Amino acid sequence: MRFAASILTADLTRLGEEIREAEAAGVDWIHLDVMDGVFVPNLTFGPLLVEAVRRVTALPLDVHLMIVHPERYLEDFARAGADLITIHFEATPHAHRAVQKVKELGKRAGLAVNPATPLEAFAPLLPELDLALLMSVNPGFGGQKYIPAATGRLGRLKEMRDRLNPGCLIEVDGGVNKDTVGEVFGAGADVAVAGSALFNERSLRENLGELRKALIR
Ligand code: DX5
Ligand code: ZN
Repeated sequence: MRFAASILTADLTRLGEEIREAEAAGVDWIHLDVMDGVFVPNLTFGPLLVEAVRRVTALPLDVHLMIVHPERYLEDFARAGADLITIHFEATPHAHRAVQKVKELGKRAGLAVNPATPLEAFAPLLPELDLALLMSVNPGFGGQKYIPAATGRLGRLKEMRDRLNPGCLIEVDGGVNKDTVGEVFGAGADVAVAGSALFNERSLRENLGELRKALIR
């Protein structure tokens, strides 16, 4: 059970410290949400910030591209120091080509699927994937409520993954907190993204501890 800390709700004025705190607390990956204002109704950051984060941590950088035509920017994100690069099924007619390109660049390749997209979208690409990212909110913002239907979808994705590519990790993104984390890992996630549940007014160590405690219950 791994946690990917999404910096979307971190204090960007002290991002270096926030990330070091996350690393010291025992977070597994740093999750970076790249948004273009076209694929999703919000804008965030690009390769420049990934490069800055690369300089302050040795943790794997899990880059979630919520942008149209992701194939145009894969090289930039690879060069910036991303370890995993995830594109959205809905963002390009050439998801297969984009996934191949990520692998050619020597990075781990992920495919993300929105809450309304049939799970079958994963099937053709699953044998090639290192990561299958299931959205449990509509992408665009941190701090949203977990969509309950994601749990059933997760179970079906796990079954598909076990059959087609047992080495592929399943990641769940959106609304993971102490009330939903048990359900998410129970249904088959290998990695859970947590943004607002980790980066908020309380200490990250305490927040991660609370998520871990909720898993024991
Ligand atoms: C949503 C992003 C998520 C988000 C998660 O578009 O992909 O990674 O930051 O934030 P929380 O954990 O607050 O739902
Ligand atoms: Zn994300």
